[in-house]
Amino acid sequence: MEIVAPMNSALLLLVLSLVFSQSGAQPPQPAAPSPSSDACNGVYLTYTVTSNQKIVPLLKSNPARQPYRFESMLSVMNNGLEELKSWRVFVGFQHDELLVSASNAVLADGGAFPVPVGNGTVFAGFPNSDLKTAVETAADLNQMGVQVQLIGTLFGVGPPNVPMPSNISLVNDGWVCPKPSMQGKNVMEVCCTQDPNFVANTTLDEEFLPRQNGDLTIMYDVIRTYESNYWAEVTIANHNPLGRLDNWKLSWDWMRDEFIYAMKGAYPSAVGTTDCVFGKQGQYYQALDFSNALNCERRPTIVDLPLAKTNDTSVGMIPNCCRNGTILPPSMDPSKSVSAFQINVFKMPPDLNRSQLNPPVNWQINGTLNPDYKCGPPVRVSPSEFPDPSGMLPNTTAVASWQVVCNITQPKGASPRCCVSFSAYYNESIIPCPTCACGCPSSTSRTCSANRSALLLPSQAQLIPFENRTQLATAWASLHHFPLPNPMPCPDNCGVSINWHLVSDYRGGWSARITLFNWDDFAFADWFAAVELPKAGAGFEKVYSFNGSTLGGVNNNTIIMQGLEGLNYLVGEVDGANPQKDYRVPGKQQSVISFTKKNIPVVDIPGGDGFPTKVYFNGEECALPKILPSNNSNKLGSSALISLILAFAAFMLMMQQ
Ligand SMILES: *[C@@H]1O[C@H](CO)[C@@H](O)[C@H](O)[C@H]1NC(C)=O
Ligand SMILES: *[C@@H]1O[C@H](CO)[C@@H](O)[C@H](O)[C@H]1NC(C)=O
Ligand SMILES: *[C@@H]1O[C@H](CO)[C@@H](O)[C@H](O)[C@H]1NC(C)=O
Ligand SMILES: *[C@@H]1O[C@H](CO)[C@@H](O)[C@H](O)[C@H]1NC(C)=O
Ligand SMILES: *[C@@H]1O[C@H](CO)[C@@H](O)[C@H](O)[C@H]1NC(C)=O
Ligand SMILES: *[C@@H]1O[C@H](CO)[C@@H](O)[C@H](O)[C@H]1NC(C)=O
Ligand SMILES: *[C@@H]1O[C@H](CO)[C@@H](O)[C@H](O)[C@H]1NC(C)=O
Ligand SMILES: *[C@@H]1O[C@H](CO)[C@@H](O)[C@H](O)[C@H]1NC(C)=O
Ligand SMILES: *[C@@H]1O[C@H](CO)[C@@H](O)[C@H](O)[C@H]1NC(C)=O
Ligand SMILES: *[C@@H]1O[C@H](CO)[C@@H](O)[C@H](O)[C@H]1NC(C)=O
Ligand SMILES: *[C@@H]1O[C@H](CO)[C@@H](O)[C@H](O)[C@H]1NC(C)=O
Ligand SMILES: *[C@@H]1O[C@H](CO)[C@@H](O)[C@H](O)[C@H]1NC(C)=O
Repeated sequence: MEIVAPMNSALLLLVLSLVFSQSGAQPPQPAAPSPSSDACNGVYLTYTVTSNQKIVPLLKSNPARQPYRFESMLSVMNNGLEELKSWRVFVGFQHDELLVSASNAVLADGGAFPVPVGNGTVFAGFPNSDLKTAVETAADLNQMGVQVQLIGTLFGVGPPNVPMPSNISLVNDGWVCPKPSMQGKNVMEVCCTQDPNFVANTTLDEEFLPRQNGDLTIMYDVIRTYESNYWAEVTIANHNPLGRLDNWKLSWDWMRDEFIYAMKGAYPSAVGTTDCVFGKQGQYYQALDFSNALNCERRPTIVDLPLAKTNDTSVGMIPNCCRNGTILPPSMDPSKSVSAFQINVFKMPPDLNRSQLNPPVNWQINGTLNPDYKCGPPVRVSPSEFPDPSGMLPNTTAVASWQVVCNITQPKGASPRCCVSFSAYYNESIIPCPTCACGCPSSTSRTCSANRSALLLPSQAQLIPFENRTQLATAWASLHHFPLPNPMPCPDNCGVSINWHLVSDYRGGWSARITLFNWDDFAFADWFAAVELPKAGAGFEKVYSFNGSTLGGVNNNTIIMQGLEGLNYLVGEVDGANPQKDYRVPGKQQSVISFTKKNIPVVDIPGGDGFPTKVYFNGEECALPKILPSNNSNKLGSSALISLILAFAAFMLMMQQ
């Protein structure tokens, strides 16, 4: 070690500076001082820019947007005494970098190349994610470390400047990195050490990383392995009380030329093996009948099977399979919050060894009208245990297990797919869904205004498709002397809209009515909705026509509701009885919700506490109006009048007794 490593690192640096000077983009570097790799007894990170060349288009007038092609190398070396499991390194890119390829690593957030990384990104090892120690390997640098070759495009930093990142650091739990230092102009280095104050969460199995929590977790468990192929069970489990997937679609990238031979419990969305037959798989597996294989795409998409296949002996019979792509939140039905399938994967040389197992990477899962999930890389965890279905035999254990954690994200600029309108007993107008709540076409192709706020509407307008509301809205505006903009505001363009109507507010409680409208042409089976009322939600009493409950615990201000058994379909929009004369009719479901004010600190229901601050439909957060119905038109308005009449009636009653 003492001889090998210094020579090796020195050699490395020499080679790098040679490569660098050959690229012609940079003047030769002065002889760099001996790298401090050997002075580092932790994890030694270096980032080296090896070339940076101007590429077309040549933007003489706008040098800040001039693109450059860069090549660089990230090296991670474990000089410590403990194996580093699942290394993850942050590189603080800062020049609008677009990463085009990375060898020996993937992005930890699962992004697929090319990927913009201008705000920095975290790399994770692939296919080898663990770095052994020098002691274990007699200083075999290939097992102790990894070199990630990066190629990409960046903007505005050309020779003689070197586009260095702002920071590099190891982000594994329990490690700390000081500020990195520069070696010459193109090498950044840092020595990360174990944090003495870190309290490790001891797991049963020290060999593996602990399982993580997240909104959705996916297990990739290899259950049987043969020389050229293996069977894996994929289990998707939902842990978010409001997360949900309908018609889930799962996709990933095979990194080792694998292909899917057979599946049970799910199916690839495209069946076809031409890629293999004419590719290297076909050359290698000469004797294999590819007409029986399922899918040869590098990035397959997998969909669930319909319910009817549950007991099919050839493609079904997998516990938790065949749900037609529906994964419900555990708060709704724990038995339907997991989906599973099995997959038979064929491997290619050089992986033809029973113990050579690599999971696919860049996982992504989607659904119709669902939250957006962002998945991390597969992380090797302790082998899963599967209980024996009969309960008589001991558990079976997976050969190897990987866990993918997916969290719900709200991508920047993504529009919601549902919206909310507000109304109240003290105001005749409905505050409709916000203009373009679910997106609008680009400005060239529209005749409406995307910036103006939506027109207040009479309540009967809610049942009419937006395109037929204009007449009612203009009549309402002239009746109430509301200004009429020109051009008119654009529609909300949402498939689902939800009306929240304040029905009553009295001393001991209050009530609201929720109405769900489906303007899509398909139905939502097993729908659910949730509303968050930060101040008043904990007073929840009862939902009359749906099943409803609060999420409980710290979420006791969030009420989740779903259709009653047998009535849990929110049907799609259909033609009116007479399509010539009648408007199209949205699918509709409605219920009144009652609340008590007992045990609730002072609340002002009309003042805003009676309106939800967050509304979800099938796990998707809906757009809310920016204003609330107000009671300002007339101080002696209808509600005041009603109270007066009530007081008078009470007085009369008392007089009679
Ligand atoms: C970087 O962060 C800024 C500010 O948050 C954001 O506007 C920009 O889109 C981000 N860039 C990338 C590539 O994520
Ligand atoms: C570098 O990144 C690490 C991890 O993100 C962070 O803890 C550290 O403070 C950063 N250092 C600097 C100088 O920005
Ligand atoms: C350690 O694990 C326990 C139980 O799994 C958890 O409650 C706790 O938050 C964890 N601590 C850390 C630092 O991750
Ligand atoms: C997902 O969220 C959990 C906690 O909510 C967090 O511990 C985990 O790191 C997140 N994972 C990813 C991939 O963002
Ligand atoms: C999921 O949605 C994203 C963005 O809409 C799309 O690019 C991707 O192909 C979808 N994935 C699947 C598996 O359908
Ligand atoms: C499948 O078989 C189980 C047990 O025999 C039965 O309860 C279930 O209803 C069947 N499912 C379908 C879709 O036929
Ligand atoms: C399964 O999903 C498809 C596609 O969304 C839908 O058309 C069909 O009605 C669903 N079947 C059942 C039994 O829910
Ligand atoms: C399979 O891989 C293991 C570990 O990587 C190795 O020990 C073994 O020799 C390999 N077997 C064959 C037949 O290559
Ligand atoms: C069998 O597996 C289940 C869950 O996978 C676990 O809860 C149980 O403790 C295991 N039983 C034994 C005997 O290991
Ligand atoms: C709701 O949760 C909060 C915070 O956990 C708690 O203080 C309050 O007592 C709970 N309210 C009810 C009615 O359970
Ligand atoms: C509603 O608007 C649509 C689109 O403008 C139009 O085709 C339809 O005839 C209208 N319906 C009625 C009943 O006026
Ligand atoms: C109803 O509320 C809206 C929005 O706050 C307000 O502009 C309007 O004047 C109110 N109408 C009446 C009759 O109070």
